[in-house]
Amino acid sequence: AKEGLCTTPPMGWNSWNFFEGRISDTILRQMGDAMVANGMKAAGYEYIIIDDLWTGGRDAQNNLVPDAVRFPHGMKALADYLHARGLKLGIYSDAAMLTCGGVTGSYNFEEQDAATFASWGIDYLKYDYCNAPQDVSIAFARYKKMGDALKATGRPIVYAICEWGQLKPWLWARAAGGNLWRTTWDLRDVWQSHNDKLTGILEVFDQEEHIAQYAGPGGWNDPDMLMVGLNGKGSSSSAGNNGVGCTPTEYAAHFALWCMLAAPLVVNSDLRQLSAQSLQLLNNKDLIAIDQDTLGRQAVTVFKQNGIQVLKKELAGGRMAICVLNRSDSLQSGQLSLGRDLASSGTFARCHLIFGQKNITAGRMLAYKLAPHACEVYVFTQP
Ligand code: GLA
Repeated sequence: AKEGLCTTPPMGWNSWNFFEGRISDTILRQMGDAMVANGMKAAGYEYIIIDDLWTGGRDAQNNLVPDAVRFPHGMKALADYLHARGLKLGIYSDAAMLTCGGVTGSYNFEEQDAATFASWGIDYLKYDYCNAPQDVSIAFARYKKMGDALKATGRPIVYAICEWGQLKPWLWARAAGGNLWRTTWDLRDVWQSHNDKLTGILEVFDQEEHIAQYAGPGGWNDPDMLMVGLNGKGSSSSAGNNGVGCTPTEYAAHFALWCMLAAPLVVNSDLRQLSAQSLQLLNNKDLIAIDQDTLGRQAVTVFKQNGIQVLKKELAGGRMAICVLNRSDSLQSGQLSLGRDLASSGTFARCHLIFGQKNITAGRMLAYKLAPHACEVYVFTQP
């Protein structure tokens, strides 16, 4: 990917965790229309990303072609449609012969496929790692090959590396040209999965702390896509182990935590039928501003005790965001001292409570009273 791409984390929508293979030209146009109509575009969402199972294989010249039935007008027409509405189009492939879903991948066709994508007007590539060797030097070489091929097209194409963190991509993905890299196995629509891949929201969140230093403008840790709005109705790939998804409180914490992490914000639910509540959360401009802050820092933990975890994200202009999360299953209340618990100098006196829209003066102490799995987010500014 080129210089200047993803100076803040990318924002958009992806087809996988709701539609899986049920994607088509019609569906994607409808998602684009919905993103404009429901205020998401105005809030900063931009990419409509086609995930796995779009391709119909290769033609006689070995060019990748979309499935002819579901994409009868070709990809260029879809890109044109979205571009005309101020949106961008993302697509998916894999660094092996076959994708995770078992259709044609790009291995050995990197230059040709990158050129094809550019000719279609593609703006974002998610490049997966199924059916490829679990070896870091091979992974780096395969990802760099596609990264170089994308650059060679001359088109700014965001490069999303999808290796699930097994080969520590935070150490090499940027050098391969990546603008974001997955850090864990696929996130599920559940607060805690208790499965061996630890893919509940809280469990994925816990795997981001140790890699905070690798995130920054141009290259972001990707704790996977947003489950907000799925409400247990996502595809089998996103289903949690409880069949119902998360509570509104848990979705709010999920979104707030992802913003604190400077995570890519990629919605997965059906944009045509988002509830007012989901939309209000996804379009929360204060949380989005924290995610998109130009300093590009990922939050770190400054306090963790009795189920309360406090995160701090440095923001541009000497401000900071503080998130107080109740990880426990019971109500928690208490007070945090700015200097002692929040690791800040005493000069931050005023803060803005984002959930609740109250302006409060914290002084030196911050009082909290939080339901299970709830969080509060504050932005502190210099007085
Ligand atoms: C992998 C990725 C998912 C999705 C599927 C598609 O599991 O991690 O995000 O792209 O493949 O098959």
